[in-house]
Amino acid sequence: MKQLELTRQRLMRDLNDMKVFTTTPGKGCTRLPFTCAAQDCSNALKRLMIQAGMEVCTDVAGNVFGRLPGHNRKLPCVMMGSHYDSVLHGGDYDGIAGILCAIEVARLLQENGEQLERDFVVAAFNDEEGMRFGTGYFGSGAMLGLRDVDYCHKYKDIDGISIYDAMRAVDLDPEHIDDARWPDRSISCFLELHIEQGPVLDRENVDLGLVDCIAGIKRYVIKVKGRADHAGTTPMDMRLDAVDAASKVISNIADWARESGEESVATVGLIKALPGGINIIAEECEFTVDIRSRKQEILDNISSKIIEAVKKETNIMGGQYEIEEKLDAHPVYLCKSLLDSMEVSCRNYGYSFKYMSSGAGHDALVIAPCIPTVMLFVPSVNGRSHCPVEFTDVEYFVKAVQIMRDLATSKLSERD
Ligand code: GLV
Ligand code: MN
Ligand code: MN
Repeated sequence: MKQLELTRQRLMRDLNDMKVFTTTPGKGCTRLPFTCAAQDCSNALKRLMIQAGMEVCTDVAGNVFGRLPGHNRKLPCVMMGSHYDSVLHGGDYDGIAGILCAIEVARLLQENGEQLERDFVVAAFNDEEGMRFGTGYFGSGAMLGLRDVDYCHKYKDIDGISIYDAMRAVDLDPEHIDDARWPDRSISCFLELHIEQGPVLDRENVDLGLVDCIAGIKRYVIKVKGRADHAGTTPMDMRLDAVDAASKVISNIADWARESGEESVATVGLIKALPGGINIIAEECEFTVDIRSRKQEILDNISSKIIEAVKKETNIMGGQYEIEEKLDAHPVYLCKSLLDSMEVSCRNYGYSFKYMSSGAGHDALVIAPCIPTVMLFVPSVNGRSHCPVEFTDVEYFVKAVQIMRDLATSKLSERD
């Protein structure tokens, strides 16, 4: 069988096999970190890596790494990969496709007896999405030494379970989270293949996106606190209505993003009123905010406006507030020479390509400030993602694998 056809069949099989690792079968992929579905998925990835001839290890953060030995094992490795967790009711391609394509690159290197100068590592990161704890990039952050025990205690899911306790529930020891850190200069470059999750490549019928910038992200959980009272008897001027105050802030957030331009976006994705009754004035209104922009000053500006508005509205109401920052990731620009090299490969194969920025966050967002990093996008049909209809034709993954393999074997990936 021709190599491209073999790659196509293996990717189709692997993408399909991973679909079972969800807690919401038939209703999209739900693979939250530190759950059985996530553990089963990471075990399946381990098996694929072993079958591909890789040395496999897992770490205390729940990451899985597969390694093909290079000629000179002392040199920093070439790393490719993405994440295996998902959002609630998400799709079957976000994250996992990047890991499976990187494993396919390893298989091709093995089958062709192509030993690289340095180790080739496939990374399957845990908890990139931040779906469960509102944070994100836990696994890749731990690899870079950016997570500690306090962090694990600090962030909690909607049921009040901390990252610390969630880890212990699946036999990972948060007291040793530092062990997940890789030594400085042990990775020479990182490539993440990902579905675009937006409409551009599909609409313009372009094969591949060369990502030169990833938008920065700020995330908050905000609690506006008032007082519970009777909805029928409490006059309007005697209420401390947390929903009334919070909604005055929330209703401005999307407009502040629109006014900022530069494709900046802001989302309130979750709103909770407590105690939550039709005839009780809410004593607390909790909401999440996720702000994204390629410009740091826009991120700072929108978040200041939100914080000021929360202060003002709670003051007018006579209540209180709490603002918890969940994530503060700066916009990053990706490695020009690695992008140039991928462009040359696209031209050689006759694949159409487009330089673009990513509005979605990725492990590459936290890795890029530390390690030369690049991203490759494949089209998402109708731009749909973070929902069950997410789809990418396997032909695009086959093309991406060719580009990834070229990069793995290029001299550029061999810089220290
Ligand atoms: C992850 O996909 C994100 O961009 O939030
Ligand atoms: Mn993703
Ligand atoms: Mn995602």
